[in-house]
Amino acid sequence: MWDRFLRACCFQSVDRTPVWFMRQAGRYMSEYRAIRARRTLIEICKAPELATQVTLQPVQALGVDAAILFADILLPLEPMRASFEFRADDGPLIHSPIGDRAGVDALRIPDPEADLGYVLETVRLVRRELEGKTPLVGFAGAPFTMASYLIEGGKSTSFLRTKRFMHREPAIWASLLEKLVEVVRRYLRAQIGAGAQAVQIFDSWAGALTVYDYAEFVAPYMKVLFDDLKTTGVPVIHFSADNGHLLELQRDTGGSVIGVGWQTPIDVAATRLGKSVAIQGNLDPVALLAPRPILARRVEQILEAVARPTGYVFNLGHGILPETDPAAVAFVVDRVHSWRTE
Ligand code: CP3
Repeated sequence: MWDRFLRACCFQSVDRTPVWFMRQAGRYMSEYRAIRARRTLIEICKAPELATQVTLQPVQALGVDAAILFADILLPLEPMRASFEFRADDGPLIHSPIGDRAGVDALRIPDPEADLGYVLETVRLVRRELEGKTPLVGFAGAPFTMASYLIEGGKSTSFLRTKRFMHREPAIWASLLEKLVEVVRRYLRAQIGAGAQAVQIFDSWAGALTVYDYAEFVAPYMKVLFDDLKTTGVPVIHFSADNGHLLELQRDTGGSVIGVGWQTPIDVAATRLGKSVAIQGNLDPVALLAPRPILARRVEQILEAVARPTGYVFNLGHGILPETDPAAVAFVVDRVHSWRTE
């Protein structure tokens, strides 16, 4: 069944539980490393034929039920005029982090076709190559997670600067988030227009917020984004890592599928979320490094606990780690597909 992923997102009956993996294309695959050896991540993203090839690698090697566009949540920063680079060990570095009103006002709202046309070209090429055999997921970073990079200047553990900014400068924070909502809204609509059959919004770091901060400083902006995307009719996946405390708030903010971090038992999440949204997750990415009997048990425990014939997409609670053996990932695909949904 080519569309079991899309069907599960919409609570339509499925023959098998669909499975795909966040970060399913990347350094853990030798096919990716071979291409990456001679080019930077950004160079691959900007070459639609290469990005297409990398997008298809896990689909061909693993038999997953969805392809995810090969790109990065930070790509829109460049046409927003917030230049950045990826450093080998330290992740992204934003050259001039934002700290005031002038910084927010200087951010430009990109025109997706003119400024990020290479991403849209990749979407078109991937769709052509997949020939309707596997659906394609587009994606973008969520306004809060993108704002955290813009303000922190890179990765963070405490998000001190971001939280201080939202608490001390709520009016400037509002302008920043409103601008980012518009950036993401246009970008995802363009990806859907180019052929993305579902989209995932990565609010990776929103779990660092209390429910009070999330409700006050994130949810109202995100709601505008989700309400707009709802009218496209494609499934919208709302993902954050470590979001156990935010589940009901995130469901009420929007998205037709809610991602669940590995910290929350999936049956607890399913009960709390109810049947108005589908769920996705939540294997611990480190379980992929465990001996096969433990890995098999963890996969089966999740499938057993979900206890829904549809409305569920198997995935990790966060992205695949570079240390992962591709054979372990293929093993999980096989175990999920041999599980009876009836
Ligand atoms: O297979 C896929 O999931 C599609 C490709 C994809 C990438 N980044 C490519 C990438 C996706 C969906 C992303 C999303 C992304 N990027 C997120 C959200 C997901 C998450 O993990 O929470 C975030 C926070 C980023 C920002 C980012 N990109 C960081 C922090 C880093 C450095 C850390 C790291 O893993 O190296 C990146 C680099 C990046 N993006 C790589 C890949 C494959 C690393 C590999 C490389 O350097 O070639």
